[in-house]
Amino acid sequence: MKVLSICGSPRRGNSEAILNKLKEFLEEKGVENKIILLRTKNIHRCDGCVEYCNKHLKCRYRDDMDEILEEILQADGLVFAMPNYFAMPPGIFKDFIDRCSVLYTSYEFTKKPDLSNKKAVVITVGTDKEFVTACKNYIAKWFCETLRLKVVAKEGFLSRSELKGNYNDIFENSLNPDILERLRAIAEALASP
Ligand SMILES: Cc1cc2nc3c(=O)[nH]c(=O)nc-3n(C[C@H](O)[C@H](O)[C@H](O)COP(=O)(O)O)c2cc1C
Repeated sequence: MKVLSICGSPRRGNSEAILNKLKEFLEEKGVENKIILLRTKNIHRCDGCVEYCNKHLKCRYRDDMDEILEEILQADGLVFAMPNYFAMPPGIFKDFIDRCSVLYTSYEFTKKPDLSNKKAVVITVGTDKEFVTACKNYIAKWFCETLRLKVVAKEGFLSRSELKGNYNDIFENSLNPDILERLRAIAEALASP
């Protein structure tokens, strides 16, 4: 059982801390877990030349997305974690989403990777519950479900504003008293057959 976690924060912050904790819980259950930090990857922005990926079933750009797509295809489960910026994912995660369209175009047209047996989890963070929830639901429905991934959990966690000097305090900020239980439940959902 292999789970690939993808962190969509442009900084070493709450999303990354959450994925590190989830990794501990997954490994306790014997699940292999790799975390990919998009902020450390070179991912060319999709420039919409759909003619190419429709015909070749891959992007015309050779960059870190080649390896990430391969890892997605090898994984049994996928975790997407990110902050919300204006109720949307940060630009680096949106760039990743757009480059995943190779999976979608191939799905529509010809030899398609079947992602329907892969579990997916969406985790979003932010200061405002309504925004966090909107982002979480949006990624689960319009990204994961479009790719036919099986969403087994979606969670939103609250952070305190970094504009007021708070940073990376998701486990100490007292806004998510049950965060460990919720992460354990995610690990269980991913690990169970
Ligand atoms: C550019 C920017 C825009 C943000 N917009 C929102 C927002 O609209 N709603 C919200 O709840 N939080 C917003 N936040 C707060 C972040 O979502 C929050 O600090 C989150 O914990 C950051 O996650 P990270 O530590 O994983 O990077 C914003 C932060 C930044 C930097």
